[in-house]
Amino acid sequence: MKEIYIAPSILSADFSKLYDEIKSLKKEGATYLHFDVMDGHFVPNISFGSYVLSCISKKVDLIKDVHLMITDPEKYFMDFIKAGADFITFHYEAIKKEEVLPLIKKIKENNCKVGLSIKPKTDPKEIVEFLPYLDLVLVMSVEPGFGGQSFMENSLNKIKFLSTLKEKNNYHYLLEVDGGINNLTAKKVIKAGAEILVSGSYIFKSENRKNAINSLKEE
Ligand code: DX5
Ligand code: ZN
Repeated sequence: MKEIYIAPSILSADFSKLYDEIKSLKKEGATYLHFDVMDGHFVPNISFGSYVLSCISKKVDLIKDVHLMITDPEKYFMDFIKAGADFITFHYEAIKKEEVLPLIKKIKENNCKVGLSIKPKTDPKEIVEFLPYLDLVLVMSVEPGFGGQSFMENSLNKIKFLSTLKEKNNYHYLLEVDGGINNLTAKKVIKAGAEILVSGSYIFKSENRKNAINSLKEE
């Protein structure tokens, strides 16, 4: 049985007590901590920048998974590496296709793992040429911008497609899904081949986070 990893998204945390919100997540079963960075241009919402990551990165023993929903990842990725990112994921739709591979290489040269994300309307066939270079592929199962939206079922076929290609070619990327993940949708994405499940509102709004995180891992 494949191991399933959980990445709580701090977007749904109470920022007035951010450290209290995240300090027990590892004990409660999480492996990654997901940072949703939004610039108000690539998505219609603004969240936070590298300063927030730098304040907490050394204090939590979780893998820092940065999801850049910004129009200019090239300009800002280094700030997040300096702030303690373990993975930097940028959006395929944010830059020109010819800029994608050079940016993948630059992130790797700076000793950071690199991910590429696709929005719900993007066909995964468009990113096939980049798959051998990636440490992570992130399939969005909601339109990026806000937490608390409903899961889009069309992401399941994309996950299956990317999972099959991974196995067939022995690629090393981790397959991550983000948006509308709860105890019910988790089962579907795991069946389709997802390995890292990002979850914001389901975890942070639950009474018992340990139970919530465990319920996401059940197949
Ligand atoms: C959406 C973000 C997600 C979001 C997930 O743009 O990328 O990570 O926080 O939140 P839920 O789990 O509430 O859909
Ligand atoms: Zn995200």
